[in-house]
Amino acid sequence: MIQILFVCLGNICRSPLAEGIFNQLVKGQHLSSYLLSDSAGTSDYHIGQQPDRRTILIGQKHNMPIRHVARQFIANDFEKFDYIIAMDQKNYQHIMSMRKNHSDYITKISLMRDFESNPADSRDVPDPYWSGEDGFQQVYDILYNSISNFIDHLKKEHQLS
Ligand code: 4NP
Repeated sequence: MIQILFVCLGNICRSPLAEGIFNQLVKGQHLSSYLLSDSAGTSDYHIGQQPDRRTILIGQKHNMPIRHVARQFIANDFEKFDYIIAMDQKNYQHIMSMRKNHSDYITKISLMRDFESNPADSRDVPDPYWSGEDGFQQVYDILYNSISNFIDHLKKEHQLS
């Protein structure tokens, strides 16, 4: 099983939505027996909580259930996961700073928007926590595009079809 971890700050908005989109696309392509995802937050703000109500609503709008209990990223995740995908540069830097040695795990860790089709103004998936419903739709669109390409990348890299 190839294991993928999506990481944001609170683990209640962007990364559980990323996990939901990933799971739905993987299921649609009959790849569920090869690819397994999880999500985590770099902060401890929302440990044990359900996803934000707006995350669940945007999922419902696109017919995808978002089920997750928030947890914090831990050092063991570096070992457990094959791919660690950070939602923004702050989360990326936070994860990078948790490594024991500077050379460790670099090839596993990426930024979500590096997989987006067209180069964007920002390298960050914007934090929608303080925004309205519009912010969540924008996040959904960015994630859908980036994750579709990420799955294509996984298929090529691991010869999945
Ligand atoms: P997330 O969004 O990182 O996409 O889950 C946030 C959730 C909570 C907070 C910030 C961002 N917060 O400050 O509590």
